[in-house]
Amino acid sequence: MKLSDAMTAAINDQIKAELDSAYIYLAMSAYFEDCGLSGMAHWMRKQYKEEVEHAEKFIDYLYERGARFIVPETAKPKESYENALDVFKTAYAHEQYVTSRIYKLVDMATAEKDYATLSMLKWYVDEQVEEEANAGGIVEKLEFLGGDKHGIYAVDRELSSR
Ligand code: FEO
Repeated sequence: MKLSDAMTAAINDQIKAELDSAYIYLAMSAYFEDCGLSGMAHWMRKQYKEEVEHAEKFIDYLYERGARFIVPETAKPKESYENALDVFKTAYAHEQYVTSRIYKLVDMATAEKDYATLSMLKWYVDEQVEEEANAGGIVEKLEFLGGDKHGIYAVDRELSSR
């Protein structure tokens, strides 16, 4: 069965969202490098690579279904933040946004009775649970610490082992 034109466009749009996410995290990594928080920078760099993988998984799916992938223009990411908590809060909110996008794709695949796409999307539904838990967990820790610099450095060390 051929992928519908609407689904092809929606997946292409999601690939753009994943690549935009990658750039957002790459910029967050650069911000942390600039602050001397190398563990957080490392964590964000890993996140950047994960987002590229998310995009590639969608690209491969388009190819598998004989559909066309159009390389999108990516949005320029925000470069500066107030502090580490601000960065992770932004990342957490961004992941919630990505989850809502994945759910819309699920709704669309359900309406189209596109069972192959639904099955493929299950991986992303599960992945988003992990993505939100990761970012949300760090927000909780940083909120608990407030501005405690020793605590923030301890979290930085912890994140260097991702
Ligand atoms: Fe690709 Fe972080 O969602």
